[in-house]
Amino acid sequence: ADMEKGTYEHYMLKEVDEQPAVMRRLVKEYTNEQGELVVDSTITERLNMSDRVYIVACGTSWHAGWVGKQLIEQLAGVPVEVHVASEFAYNMPLISEKPFFIFISQSGETADSRQVLVKVNELGYDSMTMTNVAGSTLSREAIHTMLLHAGPEIAVASTKAYTAQIATLAILAKAAGMASAKVEAEQFDLVHELGLVAAGMERLVGEKDMISSLVKEKLSETRNAFYIGRGLDYFVSMEAALKLKEISYIQAEGFAAGELKHGTIALIEEGTPVIGVITEEETGAHTRGNLKEVESRGASTLVVSMEGLEREGDGIVLPKVHSLLTPLVSVVPIQLIAYYASLQRGLDVDKPRNLAKSVTVE
Ligand code: G6P
Repeated sequence: ADMEKGTYEHYMLKEVDEQPAVMRRLVKEYTNEQGELVVDSTITERLNMSDRVYIVACGTSWHAGWVGKQLIEQLAGVPVEVHVASEFAYNMPLISEKPFFIFISQSGETADSRQVLVKVNELGYDSMTMTNVAGSTLSREAIHTMLLHAGPEIAVASTKAYTAQIATLAILAKAAGMASAKVEAEQFDLVHELGLVAAGMERLVGEKDMISSLVKEKLSETRNAFYIGRGLDYFVSMEAALKLKEISYIQAEGFAAGELKHGTIALIEEGTPVIGVITEEETGAHTRGNLKEVESRGASTLVVSMEGLEREGDGIVLPKVHSLLTPLVSVVPIQLIAYYASLQRGLDVDKPRNLAKSVTVE
């Protein structure tokens, strides 16, 4: 049934809508009868034994990896590096003494990531693949696997796999932190928090008409656009820009809000859309400052903010969720922005030009 579009015009929209169900499915898959989170203990042991985690991925999976870094460092207390596979392969950093490699790949078939895994195996390092496809190449060739349980993702632009990756990384981080008795992990009721995320996502996917009109107003004419944020909001901004580029062909960049003034602000012209993502109080105040700076140079701004931090005039207000899980809700309207920008331009939403669902050449 997952392969059917049903009443949907596009797979992408169906997959965006499936995200609350995927969150709930993940909780089910990774809890025992007592409702406690369970992850294969050899995985959490190996992660905790390591002195450094290396996340290797491409595209949207790489963006999820950045959120994973935050989760693993904060909940499990192990330092994490995040690498683009095609760079890591030829420009390998100095590896720590006891590394643990995590390959994140929706398809489990991406050649760039596989190339790194082959090297990692040659070097005898411990590895895990986090993938949506059981039995995929990366899953077979890594020592451990965690599945995303997102169901088949057909649209080229990845949506539910991204949120499933973040939720699965949170599950891994929490389980590893529990296994090493980290207070941060013990105090984080992830099962409950993912329930709130699912409910929040449900509300957001119900706001399609509003988002479609915002896109008409803000993005219909433009050839370029910027997303800005700090911390997790920066990582989501990178994914937001990628989504927009992939299917609407609007040249988009996701920027660390504070870095904009160090060069990129030169690109701001009358009417240039700049979208700010704000889910955290302290950094959010700074991002608001950065939005003011671009507004005074003519930018047309739009704010996606979290309940409690919203100000009058913000375009999209997100339901409040735990501070470590904000990307799971902030990305939903952002996916819909890309969807409507593509749709309104009359483009092929599910099969954008030049792109493949999974890239099996280096
Ligand atoms: C392709 C897809 C992207 C995806 C990337 C990595 O470029 O178009 O949507 O993020 O590959 O794919 P993977 O299957 O490894 O997550």
